[in-house]
Amino acid sequence: MAPGRFITFEGPEGSGKSTQIRRLAETLAARGIEVVCTREPGGTATGEAIRNILQHDAAGEPLADRAELLLFAASRAQLMEQVILPALGRGEWVLCDRFIDSTLAYQGFARGMDIAALGRINDFAIGGRKPDLTLLLDLEIERSFQRLEKRYSDGQGSADRFERETRDFHQRVREGYHQLAAREPGRFRIIDSDRAIDEVASKVWNVVQEALLSQ
Ligand SMILES: Nc1ncnc2c1ncn2[C@@H]1O[C@H](COP(=O)(O)OP(=O)(O)OP(=O)(O)O)[C@@H](O)[C@H]1O
Ligand SMILES: [Mg+2]
Repeated sequence: MAPGRFITFEGPEGSGKSTQIRRLAETLAARGIEVVCTREPGGTATGEAIRNILQHDAAGEPLADRAELLLFAASRAQLMEQVILPALGRGEWVLCDRFIDSTLAYQGFARGMDIAALGRINDFAIGGRKPDLTLLLDLEIERSFQRLEKRYSDGQGSADRFERETRDFHQRVREGYHQLAAREPGRFRIIDSDRAIDEVASKVWNVVQEALLSQ
């Protein structure tokens, strides 16, 4: 049995992660590859309940930074055990919308929590199985805000806790992602997301072929 592959999608809000995961899943499925798409936080019943707290202050009180961090870690641990490891064990490909690098970019680079500590919490949550490939969909923050505004004006949802953060916050997220990519060039690929959806999709597909299908 061919081994399962684990790909994560990262990037600022509105950079096209959900759109491109759908596209890659279609492309892989057309080649007869079994694909599981999931997302963070969420992807399990427990994780979706956690997602609700994280996105909307469902607890009815401001969420402490450390509580936020550990809720993300809890959701990730559950997803790993319930969904990701079993799928990889069956030889399937897993496409995950956000993963460990979101913690480092948002809680670390943007909120200023200790990156080394976050790295240890990430490792504990995932138990050692890192993504084979991480696609950083990169977009200028101005463009990302424009896309989100368009999405709201089209009536698709409203701003969550992170989307209400300042532009400076999101700028730090973006720069953080670039530092993470520079630190692990073997795992990361940066994809310019300020292109038409089809163009980004074909770039994603080229990168996936080159990184995971060409051996
Ligand atoms: N390449 C693109 N060009 C223009 N618009 C795009 C492109 N990719 C996605 N969009 C649009 O931008 C919005 C955000 O895309 P999408 O939901 O895929 O991003 P996301 O990274 O998953 O966002 P979030 O972080 O909020 O989950 C959507 O309305 C989508 O249709
Ligand atoms: Mg999305």
